[in-house]
Amino acid sequence: MHVADLPELPRRLAAADPGWNETTDVLVVGSGVAGLTAALHLREQGLHVTVVTKVNIDDGSTRWAQGGIAAVLDPLDTPAAHANDTEIAGVGLCDPAAVRVLVEEGPARVRELIRLGASFDRNPDGSLMLTREGGHRADRIVHAGGDATGAEVQRALHDAVHRDPWIRLVEHALVLDLLRAPDGRACGITLHVLGEGSEDGVGAILARAVVLATGGMGQIYASTTNPSVSTGDGVALALRAGAVVTDVEFVQFHPTSFVTSTVNSVQRPLISEALRGEGAHLVDETGKRFMVGQHELAELAPRDVVAKGIHRVLRSTGADHVYLDARHLGRDFLEQRFPTIVASTRAAGIDPATELIPVAPAAHYASGGVRTDLHGRTSIPGLYACGEVACTGVHGANRLASNSLLEGLVFARRIADDIARDLPPQADPAPTPADPGWVVSPAVRPELQRSMTRGAGVLRSADSLSATAKELARLAEQRDTPRNAAWEATNLLTVATVLVAAARTRRETRGCHWREDFPVAEDEWRGHLLHLLDRKAGLAQTFEEMA
Ligand code: SIN
Repeated sequence: MHVADLPELPRRLAAADPGWNETTDVLVVGSGVAGLTAALHLREQGLHVTVVTKVNIDDGSTRWAQGGIAAVLDPLDTPAAHANDTEIAGVGLCDPAAVRVLVEEGPARVRELIRLGASFDRNPDGSLMLTREGGHRADRIVHAGGDATGAEVQRALHDAVHRDPWIRLVEHALVLDLLRAPDGRACGITLHVLGEGSEDGVGAILARAVVLATGGMGQIYASTTNPSVSTGDGVALALRAGAVVTDVEFVQFHPTSFVTSTVNSVQRPLISEALRGEGAHLVDETGKRFMVGQHELAELAPRDVVAKGIHRVLRSTGADHVYLDARHLGRDFLEQRFPTIVASTRAAGIDPATELIPVAPAAHYASGGVRTDLHGRTSIPGLYACGEVACTGVHGANRLASNSLLEGLVFARRIADDIARDLPPQADPAPTPADPGWVVSPAVRPELQRSMTRGAGVLRSADSLSATAKELARLAEQRDTPRNAAWEATNLLTVATVLVAAARTRRETRGCHWREDFPVAEDEWRGHLLHLLDRKAGLAQTFEEMA
């Protein structure tokens, strides 16, 4: 079905032909948990790997992850129990085969990460310290440095990559478009490098396989826990190349981002769900625990339930935050278990040992993305996707807490194995289409973010979505000359437009897609919305029922 009343979306970003090119066996785009893990496993297969990353190696979302990695590491826990919690959170849209892969292979991948050098928090007897987060019915989250798990995972992977001279790292490199061989197979990318010497400006890296691990798209919203680099570049690139993208309407809003006027950016500090896992309570301005009675797990209900509970309070009070009460946990415990959170709240003048922490939902995680199979293969041969950019089917309509780092670890390994099994020789790219491509002005970015938060945020309706669709169409007219900020803005516009198209079509409430005008989950909507950008017809949307 062709989606009407949408702005035209560009099919190409690079205006100029590449001024330089180089080759590698496998090109990995992105340097968080998914990208670096894929690179290391590809090296175990003896392949030459190039990792390109938009800014510096550590600037993606991984290092901001606080809570941890969910995996069955307690003898009393089972993969079936982890699968069950994952599927309940996903509200009927998880792919059971993908979930099985995740929970069964997860523990081995966490042990590999420990062997690589990642140091997780341990009990006095040396066993791994496990905690609980929303939606989990067992303690199965490993964590590091208290609440600095992502930073430790990133450090361990970064160090391992730097130890390997056969992994080439290209930083300050924004990917533009996929290159495809005459038979349609992915055979490289065009990119823009802010570099020195011969490798500067628009170039091409040719490869026998391409792995997208570019992370999320939280920057389409006015407040997000994601860093400024999370602009949906991989999903937008895949759409332009003609890959199938799915479940993009399911953006998870983390219930507790820190609301403070001292942080003046779209990225808001995260207040980890692990704090609620250790006993902190959500209260309204009268001190009432409003989640009690809304769900049997109260503050530890799945994230969509808690974000909705908070949103209802905000709507009725007109305030921009509720509070998290962690005072009863005690100063010593808070400082030892949550040093990152204590540092960020204290920097804003709030002492969580004696004061309430103001919190509100913020965009946190894209449950959908570039559709893949169980080996990370997309619909384009030779193009793989891993981590938040991908939709492997494990998250369904709402990701379970701490399943994201796990997904990156598990599917990166599967991708490396698949690539090593069947890697064709390097192909030359087919001539680029005559379509010159276009980009929008970077000035559209703040307007786009505000419009998405207003109309396609935690709560949506036909009216709010149609107003946002109109605003996006207007912003699409603000064209500019190709340059980094304009390419990023065009990626934001592309993913926001597809998200709004999906959210308008899905007339039900399910997981993190909350429609005020269709407040319940409907059986007829138990399936996935697939999107494909056709060169001639524009955006095509198909509904695929669950088997
Ligand atoms: C958190 O620490 O609350 C975030 C963990 C996650 O997103 O899975």
